[in-house]
Amino acid sequence: MRGVSDASELVRRRESALGTGYRLFYERPVHFVRGEGVYLYDPEGNAYLDAYNNVPSVGHCHPRVASAVARQAATLNVHTRYLTDGLTDYAERLLATHAFGGTAAGGAGADSPLDRAMFTCTGSEANDLALRIARHCTGGTGIIVTAHAYHGVTAAVAEVSPSLGPNVPAGPHVRTVPAPPGHGTRPEAAAQAFGEQVAAAVADLRAHGITLAAFLADSLLSSDGVIPDPAGFLFAAQRVVRQAGGLYIADEVQAGFGRTGSHMWGYQRHGLTPDIVTMGKPMGNGLPVAGLVARREVLDDFGRQVRYFNTFGGNPVCIAAASAVLDVIEEEGLRANSAAVGGYLRAEISRLAAGRPLLAGVRGAGLYIGVDVVDPETGAPSPSLASAIVNAMRDRRVLISATGPAGNVLKIRPPLPFGRAHADQFLDALSQSL
Ligand SMILES: Cc1ncc(COP(=O)(O)O)c(C=O)c1O
Repeated sequence: MRGVSDASELVRRRESALGTGYRLFYERPVHFVRGEGVYLYDPEGNAYLDAYNNVPSVGHCHPRVASAVARQAATLNVHTRYLTDGLTDYAERLLATHAFGGTAAGGAGADSPLDRAMFTCTGSEANDLALRIARHCTGGTGIIVTAHAYHGVTAAVAEVSPSLGPNVPAGPHVRTVPAPPGHGTRPEAAAQAFGEQVAAAVADLRAHGITLAAFLADSLLSSDGVIPDPAGFLFAAQRVVRQAGGLYIADEVQAGFGRTGSHMWGYQRHGLTPDIVTMGKPMGNGLPVAGLVARREVLDDFGRQVRYFNTFGGNPVCIAAASAVLDVIEEEGLRANSAAVGGYLRAEISRLAAGRPLLAGVRGAGLYIGVDVVDPETGAPSPSLASAIVNAMRDRRVLISATGPAGNVLKIRPPLPFGRAHADQFLDALSQSL
């Protein structure tokens, strides 16, 4: 059996081999050797309840996904320049999940469906490609994002990811808008206020001679502190963006594939149809598959004029995983589970928060929940208390993290098969940690 001393030895070797660019979670890092369902296991066989990871969205090492991958890897794995059945079947199936009668927010072709799909390996690549398409389609270069957005790691998307901090400066054609407060506003008022912020950003770009290409937003505003509500606040922003000749890009890397419970896609909660939707993380339950869907008017000219080949993007093994993920979401009713268990968890966390000034706000959609941690004396956001809770939960073998501009928002985002009994285990650990 390997013990704690082995974990510290592994930390030392890892730091020596990987250098300074890598971070570990928790004051006492955890070492895992196996995963199953909503649990991860350390070398001693201890089970950790995973209330954090959204990539293994249908559950760690789901047998259906694992066997689809193994079968395909033993049969055929080539790139997208040959005809294969799986890619086209999956693209059609994925596009069908985006068929939605969302209200048009104005502008030419606003009602036409999202009817084209392209595949990449990561969410960053999907956003990078979306920005290229938007700039090609509009002739503009300006991009608007939220003030603490995260959209990925390539040069183009890092400069539209202000949450990376001052060492990764925003590009000259990037403008930010503050995220809405997330509570206490009626949907119409929130939508109008947010739309006005976006309009001000468009005007500022214009004043600097920059034409808008796109507004890019995570449909749950995760890194802005998890702001799903009021549903509809993104709608007015889309109208403003379209009127300015720009495209609305919904980043569904966090919100997609049933996470919000009520809908398959986060943008659908807001009653809008984006011009481009980017996807990733849970798409292959851990296999590197990501991509985008778009309206043909947006994509087709780019496709004709620009050669885009992504060697591993959409390969048959990754597509087999992605297909199995859709099967499992449907067959195991994971969207409904996300809505039901997410609702229960939010209600029970709110009950724990009542009478505890430490927890100032509980919000979320489905199994994506954010909880504000504040200094009980002053009411100011407290990243140190949030971190103490995250580490206390880890000591009780329950995994969560913290996010938001101040780092004080508990981020609770388990795999979707998280059941009522798991929620109760989580709540026990949280109440002890508090
Ligand atoms: C909203 C959002 N967009 C894009 C990305 C980038 O995805 P990837 O890490 O697969 O490149 C992330 C990753 O955390 C994300 O949260």
